[in-house]
Formats: sequence, C-alpha cells, structure tokens
Amino acid sequence: MTKKVKNSLKDSALFLKHAITSPMQVAYFMPSSPWLIDQVAKCAHLSDARHIMELGPGTGGTTRGILKYMQQDAELISVEINQKFIDHIEKTITDERLSMSNKGAQNLVEIMTDHDWDSADVIISGIPFTTLPKGMDRAIMQSIHDALKPGGIFLAYQFRDHVSKLAQPLFGEYTFKKVEFKNIPPMRIYTWQK
Ligand SMILES: C[S@@+](CC[C@H](N)C(=O)[O-])C[C@H]1O[C@@H](n2cnc3c(N)ncnc32)[C@H](O)[C@@H]1O
Repeated sequence: MTKKVKNSLKDSALFLKHAITSPMQVAYFMPSSPWLIDQVAKCAHLSDARHIMELGPGTGGTTRGILKYMQQDAELISVEINQKFIDHIEKTITDERLSMSNKGAQNLVEIMTDHDWDSADVIISGIPFTTLPKGMDRAIMQSIHDALKPGGIFLAYQFRDHVSKLAQPLFGEYTFKKVEFKNIPPMRIYTWQK
C-alpha cells in the first residue's frame, strides 16, 4: 500500500469518527472526493488571489487542493472548530502559506485582524449550512460578507440548496453553479461575487 493511500485511509477514518460523534457539524460520512476538491479549487479563481480563507477544512483534503492551485506568494487561513482536525492538519500539511484558526467562521473579521489582513479575496466554504444551530447559518453568511473585499469571490460546496437562499439577501444571485456527481453525496458548487 502506498503512503498516499495509507494517508487517505487515515483521513477517512478520522473524518468518519467525527461524523459519528458530531453529525451536525461534520454532516457527511466521507471527506470530499479528489474530483470535488479539484473542481472547488479550479472554480474559486485562485490565480489572482493573495488572501484566501477556507471554512471547515475537516481532515485537510480541500486544504491541499487549495494550496496546489494558489500562488506561491498567497496566504491561506483555514478556519476549523474541531481541534482534532486542526491537530491532524498541522501534523500532515507543512506549507508556510497555511495558518489555522479555531475561532469559528462566525468571527472572520476578528481572524483577519489577528493576521493583519484588511479583507479576503476569496472565501471557500465546506461548512454544512443546513445542519448548523439556529441562527448560526445567518451569522456565518454575514461574517463571510463582511470579510470579503468588494469584487471578491465566495464559493460554497453543499449537498443542499439552502446556501443559495441564505446568500441571496447579501450577495444576490449566484454567478456560477455546477454539480459534481463524483462525490458521495453529489455536491453543488456555487460562486458569488461581492
Ligand atoms: C462537511 S465537513 C467538510 C470537510 C472538508 N472540507 C471536506 O470537504 O472534506 C464540514 C467541516 O466544517 C466544520 N465546521 C462546522 N461548523 C464550523 C464553524 N462554525 N466554523 C468553522 N468550521 C466549522 C466541521 O468541523 C467540519 O470539519
């Protein structure tokens, strides 16, 4: 068994464990597939971005995909509330462009201030908006809107359509939508421009 396959199995086992213990936070039983990760990173317009935020990296598959497509002088802050996932990412991804924050996606402006950023160029979210505690979905959407620069891109990958209704009052209609079927479950990818 190759090292890559072993690491991918370890990621999946850790993800499944937390999907069972925190189903509302994690929402799915498997991390995103390589096809979904590739589509997310390609659709996020990363080539022009210097300040990128990722919300809900989980075991870090999507983080690796974003790092692969972003510029060498760009920075990525990945925001995750599960400390076990943060520990795992810090152990398995060594890239100077990446910082982790455990403050929660509802606090993005505070997180940016911690890192001396004025705003984010791109925000990519895998947070399951449908299963969050009441009110948290709106609080996170407001936080995303506040943190993004005018003209910045917000990308969400989600199983359900709820996120498009949630984003509409702040961002208007999405600029792009596609479904990636090579994932369990199939995922909708949306982007908005602020
Ligand atoms: C569906 S998983 C996505 C994991 C990974 N990005 C992937 O695609 O495989 C959702 C992640 O969002 C995290 N999460 C949930 N609520 C959050 C919040 N308020 N702030 C930051 N992360 C959160 C969960 O802990 C979980 O890791």
